[in-house]
Amino acid sequence: MRMRVRELLAGGTAHQCCSVSGWVRSLRTLKDVAFIVLNDGSNLSGIQIVAGRELGNFPEVCRITTGTAIRVEGELLESPATGQQWEFSAKTISLIGYADDSFPLQKKRHSYEYLRSIAHLRPRTNTFGAVFRLRSKLAQAIHRFFAEKNFLYVHTPIITAGDCEGAGELFRVTTLDASAPPLIKGQPDFSQDFFGQRTGLTVSGQLEGEMFALAFSDIYTFGPTFRAENSNTARHASEFWMVEPEMAFADLADDADLAEEFITYLCRYALEGCPEEMAFFDRHIENGLLERDGRGAEAAFARMDYSEAIDRLLRSNARFSYPVEWGLDLQTEHERHLCEQIVGGPVFILNYPKEIKAFYMRQNEDGRTVAAMDLLVPKVGEIIGGSQREERLDLLETRMTEMGISQEPLSWYLDSRRWGSCPHAGFGLGFERLVMYLSGMDNIRDVIPFPRTPRHCEF
Ligand code: 4AD
Ligand code: MG
Repeated sequence: MRMRVRELLAGGTAHQCCSVSGWVRSLRTLKDVAFIVLNDGSNLSGIQIVAGRELGNFPEVCRITTGTAIRVEGELLESPATGQQWEFSAKTISLIGYADDSFPLQKKRHSYEYLRSIAHLRPRTNTFGAVFRLRSKLAQAIHRFFAEKNFLYVHTPIITAGDCEGAGELFRVTTLDASAPPLIKGQPDFSQDFFGQRTGLTVSGQLEGEMFALAFSDIYTFGPTFRAENSNTARHASEFWMVEPEMAFADLADDADLAEEFITYLCRYALEGCPEEMAFFDRHIENGLLERDGRGAEAAFARMDYSEAIDRLLRSNARFSYPVEWGLDLQTEHERHLCEQIVGGPVFILNYPKEIKAFYMRQNEDGRTVAAMDLLVPKVGEIIGGSQREERLDLLETRMTEMGISQEPLSWYLDSRRWGSCPHAGFGLGFERLVMYLSGMDNIRDVIPFPRTPRHCEF
C-alpha cells in the first residue's frame, strides 16, 4: 500500500508494512547500514529510512545522491535514535528517478535570491515546503471561514472592462495585432478588438462582488488579481490573490468586525493546523513569530482614525523618508511605525481623506473623508483595504464626475443604486501578505509559487 509520510507518522503503528516514495534529502552510510532522509512534501521532517546490507542492491543504495526519487517498501519501527519517534526499515529500495551531482539543492544554505532563480525546484527545500503547505492550508481555511458563516462564494470575472481601483494599472487584454493595430484618429481602435472595447485583467472583483451582495447579502470572492504597477517592493506582485467579502446592510464598523474575526481565525488556524511549519518559521525565519501570531489570534485589534494616525506620526520622533501630512497617503514606513511602535499590534486606520481613495467609498458627514479602512499589521503594513460603499446614487454620480470617471461603462454599477440600494461594505485581503505576516517571510516573491513582478515572468 502506498502511503504519504505524514499519514504514516500520524497514524503509524509499529511493524506496519507499506511503501513510501519521495526524494532523497540526505544519505549517510556506515559499513553495514545506510540512513536516508526521505521527503515526499507531506511534512517537514520527512522520514528516516534504514537500509541494511541484506538489501540486494545495497551498494547501489549507498551511491544514491541528493534529489533522487525512490520508492521504499518496508515497515515502520520505533526508532532507537533520539529526536524521532519512528524510522522506516527498508525491505526493497527502487530507484525511480536519478538526480546527479549537478542537482542544485545540495545540502547547504542557499540565498532566497538564488532560490528564486530555481523556483521550479525550491518547493523541495524545507523553507518553501513549509511556506507552501501553510499557504495551501490558509486557502482552505478561508473557504471554511466563509462557509461556516454562510457567505456565498462567487467567481468574479478575470477579464474586465473597468479599472475598479481607478489607478490605471490594468494589464491590457487584446487580440489586436500589436505591430499594426487598426487606427482611429491615430489611436488603436478598440471597437475592432475581440470584445469590441478596451479590456484588461481585473484589479479587484469588488464591483461585481457588490452586485452579488445586493442579491445574496453576504458573499466573498477569492481569486487572482493583476496590477501593472511598476513598483519593485518586497510586498507588491503583479499577479496576486485577493479575498474580497462584501456584506449588505452593513457599515464600516461591521466591516472591521468581520476583518478582525477573519484574521484572528486565520492566525489560530495556522498555529493549530501547521504546528510543525510554524515552529520552523519561529526557529529559522523570525524569532518570536509564534508569540506574535499568538497575539494576532486573540487580541481585539486597535482602531484609530486617519487624522489621529497623522497626529501620532507627527508627534513621534521617528525619521521618515516620506513626508507625513494630513491628506497624504501612508507609506509602508508609516504603516509599520503605527502598528509596530505606536500600537504594538494590528491596527485599523479608519476614515481616510477622500482624495486618496477610490470613487466608490462612502462619503462622511465632514465632507473631506470617506468611510475607508486599512488593516495594518507588524512587518507587512497594509494587509487589508476596505470600505463602506457609497450607496446614495446622487452622491456617487457627483463623486464620479469630480474624479473624471465616465458613468456610461459603469451604468450597471449605478443601477444597483437605483433599485433597492442599501448600505453595504466589504474589504480585500491580500493573500500573499497574509502568508508573509503569518510565516515571517520578508519578500512576497517567496510566498507565491511562481512570482510575477516587473521584468519577471519566468516559469
Ligand atoms: O487596498 P486594495 O487596492 O483594495 C481593493 O482592491 C478593494 N477593491 C478591496 C475591496 O474593498 N473589496 O487591495 C486590497 C489588498 C491590499 O490591502 C493588499 O493586501 C493587497 O490587496 N494588494 C496587493 N498584494 C500584493 N501585490 C500587490 N500589488 C497588491 N496590491 C494590493
Ligand atoms: Mg489599499
